[in-house]
Amino acid sequence: MNEIYRQFLFLPEQGSSFAREIDALHYFVITGTMLGALAVAVVAAIFLFRFRATVRPYKITPRLLVPGWLEVVFIGGTLSLFVLWWDLGFRQFVMMRTPPPDAQEVYVTGKQWMWRFAYPDGRGSVGVLYIPAGRPIKVVLTSRDVIHSFFIPEFRIKQDAIPGRYSTVWFQAVRPGTYQILCTEFCGTGHSTMRGEVVALSAEDYERWLDGGKRADGASAFPDYGEMTPMEATGARLAGDKGCLRCHTTDGTRHIGPTWAGLFGSRRAFEDGSSAVADEGYLTDSMMDPRDHIVRGFAPVMPSYLGQLDAAEAAALVEYIKSLPGVPNGR
Ligand code: CUA
Repeated sequence: MNEIYRQFLFLPEQGSSFAREIDALHYFVITGTMLGALAVAVVAAIFLFRFRATVRPYKITPRLLVPGWLEVVFIGGTLSLFVLWWDLGFRQFVMMRTPPPDAQEVYVTGKQWMWRFAYPDGRGSVGVLYIPAGRPIKVVLTSRDVIHSFFIPEFRIKQDAIPGRYSTVWFQAVRPGTYQILCTEFCGTGHSTMRGEVVALSAEDYERWLDGGKRADGASAFPDYGEMTPMEATGARLAGDKGCLRCHTTDGTRHIGPTWAGLFGSRRAFEDGSSAVADEGYLTDSMMDPRDHIVRGFAPVMPSYLGQLDAAEAAALVEYIKSLPGVPNGR
């Protein structure tokens, strides 16, 4: 039944512990209101037929008298249904904002236009939130600039991130997997690119992630750094952790931002008609003040990494970009 309803209403997968409960209320409200609408339509159709004018000259239809108790049933029934929905919804709201005491905390900060995550052990990531599946996670949410909204459709949670204020939600992923994070509050030109991912790891994979090791099944979240120098490998890891690869590719494919393949040493043409060679200084400037030079054909949506990357990290990223060979026709 749940599955039929879910598909009928085009709802995403139920990825969190309370997703089913939230959907159940959704089904209840939809079914209740649709049945009510159907009943009104049927009664209207019956009245239309039953009281149609059949004899000329037309007569005024006699007033239909409904017994008082029936009116009480109609009005009282409808009202109490609304109160019941409100009560159930309010209970769910309170439940979703009251994390279990053993919940693991993660600080989430929205800024134009990225999601940053800070974990209790001091590490951080951008764009990708790593969590253990099957454990409650308490999200402490805020914004650095304007109002954003943290939405994970599969988990049925949505909470505004408000500058200067901390809000709390929690969730528990029921199984390992990757779930998208969307910003659902219009927050500027890069709003549609303000996406992220929750990677829910199995207990063993999460332990490995905590150890900084590799996942058993390998490549996707934790790439193999092969022949790289340690600095390039650090850059490659940062490119994933800091969210660079959400917009830039390393294989020459065009994405939200220019590809990194063959970027180093190439001449860049800018929107204002000027151009420059992409050297170390240019790459660093592009991370810290991305809106100074907008490469022709791209939207000015890159967030500033000023304060997000220290000098060593920026240098490692530059080294990594330098190591990426060009591909024919790459942009
Ligand atoms: Cu942040 Cu929309």
